[in-house]
Amino acid sequence: MKAETEGQGGAKRGSTTADPSSAGAPAAQAAAPARKPAPPPKAGGVKPVTVRVFRFNPDTDAAPTFAEFQVQVDPTDRVLDALNAIKWYQDGTLTYRRSCAHGICGSDAMRINGVNRLACKVLIRDVVERVTVEPLMGFRVKKDLVVDMEPFFAQYRSVLPYFVNDGRTTERERLQSVDDREKFDDTTKCILCAACTTSCPSFWANENFVGPAAIVNAHRFIFDSRDSAAGERLSILNDREGVWRCRTIFNCTEACPREIRITKAIGEVKKAILYGTARV
Ligand code: SF4
Ligand code: FES
Repeated sequence: MKAETEGQGGAKRGSTTADPSSAGAPAAQAAAPARKPAPPPKAGGVKPVTVRVFRFNPDTDAAPTFAEFQVQVDPTDRVLDALNAIKWYQDGTLTYRRSCAHGICGSDAMRINGVNRLACKVLIRDVVERVTVEPLMGFRVKKDLVVDMEPFFAQYRSVLPYFVNDGRTTERERLQSVDDREKFDDTTKCILCAACTTSCPSFWANENFVGPAAIVNAHRFIFDSRDSAAGERLSILNDREGVWRCRTIFNCTEACPREIRITKAIGEVKKAILYGTARV
């Protein structure tokens, strides 16, 4: 395995050298990002991993390329830790989203060895010694692993993903039975990571498809006994680009990091449209 980092993208993407002796060198170019000192050595169990990363800057690059980096990580580190090690100690120009690092914010969904995953939930020991990281499929790449999520959130907003009631105010909280709460419990778990929608062949084939994530978030309110806009949401989803674009492929269910039974939820919405069963 090579001891130094390879950069395949040329000067446009900035330096990808991994030589730790250069960490304290003065910045050669005004645009070069400041580097942190070399990371402290890890105690035991460290293994070298080659990370192959999709690189693309539409402002400067004619086409995407892949760059390879070698990082020293623990088997119990996550892929996100490997990306951080690259960004913090090798190439500060590497661009990706992350925030919570604990599987809650949904911001670091990406393709890891060809499968949509959250980088903060995939352990190094569960990937081979060479891991390939790419942006989600089906959205415009803004830079490296960052995609334009606006079309995704536009579809999400289109299904009225918020409580609607008939305007009556109540003296106390709106009570709900345990059984009624159970009907939409699963779909409350969505973190809007887009792993489902961007793993769906129906979405790849037609970007106007509202997508599984939007249907999941519609389901969360359609089956809530306290909400009064189920009919409006079902009308929105009763469309060629709504639930009927779903071909029950199950990719979404397999991709979801929250283990939401997405295909089941979509089926329940289809049934509610056909049989008017949203409130039974
Ligand atoms: S349903 Fe699952 S995969 Fe889809 S956006 Fe929500 S959390 Fe992510
Ligand atoms: S960084 Fe928040 S879910 Fe991974």
